[in-house]
Amino acid sequence: MKTLSVWTFGLLLFTFGGAHRHEVFPENFVVVKKNDPRPVTLTCNTQTEKVDSWTLDGEEVEFDSYVRMEGPNLKVSEVDAPMLGKYSCWSGGKMLSSTYLFQELEEEGDLDSLLSCRAKSYDCNFTCSLKDSRFTAVRLGLGQDCSEGHQSCQWESSSSSSSHDGELQFVLPHSLSPYAEESTMLELTAEAINMYYILRRTKTFYLRDIIQPDSPEIVRCEEVGEQLNVSVDPPPSWSTPHSFFSLEYEIQYELKDDGKIENSFSTLIPKKINRLRVRSRDSLVLSAWSQWTAWQNVRKGKKNRHRCKKRHQGDPQGSTPGSSDRLKTKRRKHKKKKKGII
Ligand SMILES: *[C@@H]1O[C@H](CO)[C@@H](O)[C@H](O)[C@H]1NC(C)=O
Ligand SMILES: *[C@@H]1O[C@H](CO)[C@@H](O)[C@H](O)[C@H]1NC(C)=O
Repeated sequence: MKTLSVWTFGLLLFTFGGAHRHEVFPENFVVVKKNDPRPVTLTCNTQTEKVDSWTLDGEEVEFDSYVRMEGPNLKVSEVDAPMLGKYSCWSGGKMLSSTYLFQELEEEGDLDSLLSCRAKSYDCNFTCSLKDSRFTAVRLGLGQDCSEGHQSCQWESSSSSSSHDGELQFVLPHSLSPYAEESTMLELTAEAINMYYILRRTKTFYLRDIIQPDSPEIVRCEEVGEQLNVSVDPPPSWSTPHSFFSLEYEIQYELKDDGKIENSFSTLIPKKINRLRVRSRDSLVLSAWSQWTAWQNVRKGKKNRHRCKKRHQGDPQGSTPGSSDRLKTKRRKHKKKKKGII
């Protein structure tokens, strides 16, 4: 009874999931190029058994001059669409192994139009997303092992069933040192399947080319004469030490008088503003800008619940650096406490 239900389940899987719609990459597959007359060999995984037949998607394969057996294996030449699919070898009514015959998709355009990658920092990993709903299973791998299709390639997989808004997401670990000058390019290979068609593309780039920090954090604003000194911290996901991985900031603010929006690369901006927001980028490689932070209102007064505060009344402009630094530290600590960080 048990074996029967397992068998039925397997059959259902095969009928509805396995035959045409690949949610994962099959273990064994062979790729042919379109209009390539050269024969390909489909290997039967057996040492001892005598192979007596092959099936294609469940139908027995008839041998002719394009399809013939060579030992236990099947040799197929001048492959065209009806010959693509799942091949299985059999011995005395027992299936020995299966392998898929895919055709390579020939398309204009490179990977850049399909795949976008982004690193939030120089550390450990970066993410890629693929916007193409034609493919049911996609995998990405770094390095020559992957671009040359070796078994040793470490693939990162994703499938349409785990996509967000039709976008497949990948996290790719890398072993580049964040402190060293980046001299070797990353080589990223993507494979995507749709029915019996497979897309294969490799692209190369430097990690620094895909850097896009997260939004920075507005820590506080202080009045300095007629101006506002805005303090901004790097996002928590950014590489440390921050003195080494320096960010630059752009501040956008709305003037109180006329509601005009202005931008500043200096942290000193006019005092009379309604609200402001900030974005950041790596100042050395001039990376892509982060997203803007949310707008933050700037208000005066003791009951100011916003993060941008007026300087204390009793805090003279000319106080010694030491004491004012301490004061700032104190304020920061206080704030963190309120937010529950400490
Ligand atoms: C990617 O690396 C960051 C550290 O930079 C780490 O916090 C995060 O967990 C990593 N993500 C994955 C999915 O490995
Ligand atoms: C603005 O604030 C930073 C610290 O957040 C400080 O180092 C800098 O001296 C301040 N600038 C002015 C003009 O007060």
